[in-house]
Amino acid sequence: MNVLVTRKLPSSVLAKLHAIGSVDLYAGNAAIAPSELRARLVDTDALVCLLTDTIDRAAIDAAPKLKIIANIAVGYDNVDVAYARSRGIVVTNTPDVLTESVADFTWALILAITRRLSEGERVVRRGAWEGWGLGFMLGTELQGKQLGLVGFGRIGRAVAARASAFRMRVAYAARGTTQLPDAQPLSLDQLLNTSDVVSLHVPLTPETRHLIDKKALTRMKRSAYLINTSRGPIVDEAALAWALREHLLAGAALDVYEHEPAIHPDLLALENVLLVPHLGSATTETRTAMADLAVQNVIEVLGGRPAITPV
Ligand code: GLV
Repeated sequence: MNVLVTRKLPSSVLAKLHAIGSVDLYAGNAAIAPSELRARLVDTDALVCLLTDTIDRAAIDAAPKLKIIANIAVGYDNVDVAYARSRGIVVTNTPDVLTESVADFTWALILAITRRLSEGERVVRRGAWEGWGLGFMLGTELQGKQLGLVGFGRIGRAVAARASAFRMRVAYAARGTTQLPDAQPLSLDQLLNTSDVVSLHVPLTPETRHLIDKKALTRMKRSAYLINTSRGPIVDEAALAWALREHLLAGAALDVYEHEPAIHPDLLALENVLLVPHLGSATTETRTAMADLAVQNVIEVLGGRPAITPV
């Protein structure tokens, strides 16, 4: 069996693939070019890929023997799942193993933006700190405020589970009728109108693309913060930069962007936005577990068994 792996994996995980077949490892530091991907897919039975690889019709058509696309990410908007299915190819993702690390990271962003950590660090590093002052660089307290979660799946709920430690109440806007004690279901408009921190936890789909647009941003409180650890295109970045510039909201903390790794230049010019490079699940433990789950899915499917985490 031939397995194509589009980026280096931890060696312990890679060893499991070597045990079941021949491994073609793309060792470049950046994402594999689409033409190179297509060329290498010709004789491939299983593909282990990342969210930076676009697995579209052209890629799938280039792979007549492909049986599984194992995406090392919980999100799978980079894969044309419907087309893969129509060709009898299983698509898998890596849910659960990253839930806690992404929830922790979301709270890191909430705390960092409300207490102005990156802004404060910039002041210190450029030698502009003149000493302690009673009114210097004041942030916003979390206790007694409302955390509004857009999307209430595994990660949204794990973020909610940490809210009581900061004495925040939780509201959520989500499809379906999930009812949970201690969390108030609201419409998206109500949630945007009333929340002090709005955090996004929906997958990227045609329905959620630019869910947070100019109109949505103008619904938010001027004192509120927006956090995005889901997918960049959920937020209209140009609209967000405009809203931040106009002080229609207090700040934003972003881990994901519309055109990664490019960042909208208007965002880079603003102080009230915290920008980090898509690190939500980036712990050694979690990234190893994600790679391992993807590889286990390959082993199951090539062994003729059902995938562990099909999408
Ligand atoms: C990361 O963004 C993921 O979807 O796992």
